[in-house]
Amino acid sequence: MAKQKTAYVCTDCGADYPRWQGQCSECKAWNTITEVRLGATPSRGAVRTGFAGLTESKVQTLSEVDLQQVPRFSSTFSELDRVLGGGIVPGSAILIGGSPGAGKSTLLLQTMCKLSETMPALYVTGEESLQQVAMRAQRLNLPTNKLRMLAETSVEVITQLADQEKPKIMVIDSIQVMHLADIQSAPGSVSQVRETAAYLTRYAKQNNVAIFMVGHVTKDGSLAGPKVLEHCIDCSIILDGDSDSRYRTLRGTKNRFGAVNELGVFAMMGDGMKEVKNPSAIFLSRGEEHGSGSVVLTVWEGTRPLLVEIQALVDSSQLSNPRRVAVGTEQNRLALLLAVLHRHGGLMLGDQDVFVNVVGGVKVTETGSDLALLLAIVSSYRDHLLPRDMIVFGEVGLSGEIRPVPNGGDRINEAAKHGFKRAIVPIANVPKNPPAGMQVQGVKNIAEALELL
Ligand code: TYD
Ligand code: MG
Repeated sequence: MAKQKTAYVCTDCGADYPRWQGQCSECKAWNTITEVRLGATPSRGAVRTGFAGLTESKVQTLSEVDLQQVPRFSSTFSELDRVLGGGIVPGSAILIGGSPGAGKSTLLLQTMCKLSETMPALYVTGEESLQQVAMRAQRLNLPTNKLRMLAETSVEVITQLADQEKPKIMVIDSIQVMHLADIQSAPGSVSQVRETAAYLTRYAKQNNVAIFMVGHVTKDGSLAGPKVLEHCIDCSIILDGDSDSRYRTLRGTKNRFGAVNELGVFAMMGDGMKEVKNPSAIFLSRGEEHGSGSVVLTVWEGTRPLLVEIQALVDSSQLSNPRRVAVGTEQNRLALLLAVLHRHGGLMLGDQDVFVNVVGGVKVTETGSDLALLLAIVSSYRDHLLPRDMIVFGEVGLSGEIRPVPNGGDRINEAAKHGFKRAIVPIANVPKNPPAGMQVQGVKNIAEALELL
């Protein structure tokens, strides 16, 4: 007999508990824990399902495991394939997050229309009407005669109809409007989102259909409702972009079938999303007025270099607690760098507001950006213009040393290709034969770097 299970779930953070309590121990919120009736779990005798669907369980040696490559098929967008680790794995559940208007529906509609030419595909929309989707497809000139469409929000109905349609690929737009009848709370609530996602993930595996689930993100950039979501799905990718910029970046945050460090770049054009296959220099604001506090650096994104510009503004503060604001990079890293700058560079910015911004809405998380950030701050503080044709990279250690970063040579070559003439890099990254016309200067510590300025 299948057993009905209950759980007590915090509606704010998604943490779950075996019994009710007044305060959530995870996020410390009061009165947010509600009882959730979960779907029936299979009784003990029932066969558990593995990745390949209903298979018989057996224990085997690791070396006996069939090493056949995970089969994949292309999404028709090489930038999307790149982020997914080489293509879509049949039967996988992929969560695609992003703020409203980022272009999730557009990207998936384009993918599905093209994929439907070669395989059965089902697009489920719970947010837009069929007319809206059809109008968009027509405007974007997409092939529409094979894509199967469904406007529905009940997951039970969706899976029932999918049983008849037998798609190989499916889109659920979006997970926040979907609901299961078993669960009492409203669509979009933590328990609904988590149970519908788990239900759909099981369905994907049992029926070997790849499912894209669209998820909206909250203001701080995390997926609405759920760290819990990340446990059950196979891949999670985020579509990001500045609303003033037409560029959109796609980044993996979890991938069971490949690496997560790849970055895919798209441009939102009048006729839909276009891939940017060679994105290395698109985020540079060339030709515009150039002032102090601006530095170009080369970051390494997965398997390719990307040139981005960092700007800093240092200004005397009126506040007792001067502001440290980092846009597109980490706030804590900024605080750390300011401390190192004080201790080992002799520059005291305790009475200054410090703002840094990564141009173009890109996010730079790599520690290889440290030196560039630091030089941008110093450049702004001293109102000292840095050469326009210079790139910088390197990690800054807590004792003021500049550490090498991976792929130093390739970063320098890429900059040279785009006309940069000078580079300040960690001493261990100085190539034996720098590219022609490129003057590379290696630095050991902060003091040396500041001297070069
Ligand atoms: P959409 O895919 O609906 O975003 P999401 O599903 O992530 O919320 O994209 C909507 C935005 O994209 C909207 O602001 C208009 C813009 N857009 C274009 O610029 N060009 C286009 O061809 C399309 C279809 C949309
Ligand atoms: Mg949408």
